[in-house]
Amino acid sequence: MLAQVAKVAPTNSTVLISGETGTGKELIARAIHKRSNRSARAFIRVNCAAISPSLITSELFGHEKGAFTGALQRRIGRFEAADGGTIFLDEIGDLSIEVQIALLRVLQEREFERVGSSQPLAVDVRVLVATNRDLKSAVDAGTFRQDLFYRLNVFPIHLPSLRERVDDIPLLVEYFVDRYAQKAGKKFKDITSKTLALFQRYHWPGNIRELQNVIERAVILCDNETFSIDETWLKLESPPPSGPLVPLAATLIEREKQMIEAALAQCQGRVSGVNGAARKLGIPRQTLDARIASLRIDKHRFKTG
Ligand SMILES: Nc1ncnc2c1ncn2[C@@H]1O[C@H](COP(=O)(O)OP(=O)(O)OP(=O)(O)O)[C@@H](O)[C@H]1O
Ligand SMILES: [Mg+2]
Repeated sequence: MLAQVAKVAPTNSTVLISGETGTGKELIARAIHKRSNRSARAFIRVNCAAISPSLITSELFGHEKGAFTGALQRRIGRFEAADGGTIFLDEIGDLSIEVQIALLRVLQEREFERVGSSQPLAVDVRVLVATNRDLKSAVDAGTFRQDLFYRLNVFPIHLPSLRERVDDIPLLVEYFVDRYAQKAGKKFKDITSKTLALFQRYHWPGNIRELQNVIERAVILCDNETFSIDETWLKLESPPPSGPLVPLAATLIEREKQMIEAALAQCQGRVSGVNGAARKLGIPRQTLDARIASLRIDKHRFKTG
């Protein structure tokens, strides 16, 4: 994977970084920028999931004064800010169809307009994107545009989950123990083999981020020269309120989310009524509302026009 990073970094190609949460997608994006000839210029990260759908166009492309209520000043968008550098579009799988269309145009023509302006602006921007969703199945489900997918899928890099790279765990553990021990002013001579075995057996739903957190906590609590953890932590670590996240449950949740999103896309975000998603899915409206809330689906992104 690092060899791929080294190869693609100096080019201007779009890179699609995929992988579960906490696998290091942002770290890789930053590494690509750092090793490119754009490294002295800006690296601009946009979290597509954290910006409300109504604001994201102006966030990405900027707006003119008076373009909409509340647009009191002209504002430069993230694409303009990244000119000469790199833009990192994180959580790209969460973009509404409308913004997907606008993005497709920038990728094709390297040109866009600020909201409220008809003056096209040209930018020289390297695009990196990341997602923890399976974009291909989002395309199949109709929630992600196929043409955009192919534009983004120029150079895919997939980050394996931690449970798929068990052999790397000892190295990562050593690195994190050193790092946090230094911060805490402690010294560890060795790590118990029981602790390493526990780490290698655990499922790590939060991947490297979770490993890092467990080690930070253990370093604080460990008072002798041998690093060890309390095995009860690992079972308590996985946060989802719906109980332990085993692969089957995670897969089912992901599938349910896809089906609900596909139905919402077909119904332009409508939940109830004859043309609503609830009817399409064959479940009561209240049930669907509850699932939308608990799966944290943003139904507004499926509104068109
Ligand atoms: N190979 C690695 N070596 C050391 N630290 C790592 C490695 N990979 C990831 N990390 C650390 O793990 C944490 C999570 O990484 P990062 O934020 O890049 O993950 P992500 O895939 O973007 O996660 P999310 O999908 O939740 O946004 C960061 O603190 C990062 O520094
Ligand atoms: Mg991230």
